[in-house]
Amino acid sequence: MGALGARTVLLSGSNRGIGLGLVKQLLAAPKPPLWIFASCRDPEGPRAQELRDLASKHPNLVLLKLDVANPVSVTEAARIVERKMNGSGLNLLINNAAIYTPTASLDVVDAEDMLRTYETNAVGPMQMAQAFLPLLKKAAQESTEKGLSCSKAAIINISSVMGSIERTPATFLKPVISYRCSKAALNMLTKCQALTYGKVGILCVALHPGWVKTDMGTQEADLTVETSVQGLLSVLPILSEKHNGTLLNWEGKAIPW
Ligand SMILES: NC(=O)c1ccc[n+]([C@@H]2O[C@H](COP(=O)([O-])OP(=O)(O)OC[C@H]3O[C@@H](n4cnc5c(N)ncnc54)[C@H](OP(=O)(O)O)[C@@H]3O)[C@@H](O)[C@H]2O)c1
Repeated sequence: MGALGARTVLLSGSNRGIGLGLVKQLLAAPKPPLWIFASCRDPEGPRAQELRDLASKHPNLVLLKLDVANPVSVTEAARIVERKMNGSGLNLLINNAAIYTPTASLDVVDAEDMLRTYETNAVGPMQMAQAFLPLLKKAAQESTEKGLSCSKAAIINISSVMGSIERTPATFLKPVISYRCSKAALNMLTKCQALTYGKVGILCVALHPGWVKTDMGTQEADLTVETSVQGLLSVLPILSEKHNGTLLNWEGKAIPW
């Protein structure tokens, strides 16, 4: 893994799956971030036990209650992080949390599932970026680095090849309509964020983690969490302005929109 260089990182959905894997590998890096804000819906609950165990061993890991589908929760978390940062900025926001309905073919998908999935997977990342924007801008202003990078200020949206319109025929074996539409929306959001936030020094990139063995990806998937996360964390340090507003996979290869 190349050196990430981000002093402060915040992740959503970090109590299991890829989010938890990212937290573990960030903590184990030769030069770990000064602060890792690992957010999840229920940091006190049984599903966050592993995260709590890690926090008891790593003083740079801060657990944060955050439901990306609840705007009040998002702004409250941003207030807490701002207080903790005490005037400094946030380098890296990783919008990882998402939901998935495996059975959502066109025959059965309904408005409720579409809206719920869209709320978490597309509206959530939009509101996260809005809430943490002042801290990301601060990090960009504090930096003496030229151009755009994850060590300066960045929003990484964990997306999916399932949101690629061009790749849909190749992946349509699993229709997952609500998920696909929400990730296509997230891809569009990433491009809009790149065009807007790129101007104030914030890099915005969508990353596909591969098909990964998690609750979402199932045990049939190709990649272990460790391999996917290793790939993602090797891609982050090489990202620059030429990647702003693009969709890349866990190996850094471009995926068409
Ligand atoms: N696994 C794959 O094969 C694959 C492939 C392509 C893309 N991805 C993307 O990779 C990311 C991580 O996926 P994963 O496989 O790790 O999924 P996962 O194992 O199902 O974990 C999802 C995470 O998101 C959290 N979450 C769901 N709704 C939330 C909300 N409203 N607020 C905050 N957190 C919420 C969950 O928390 P709770 O424990 O509270 O439910 C959990 O921590 C997602 O963006 C996913 O779309 C995964």
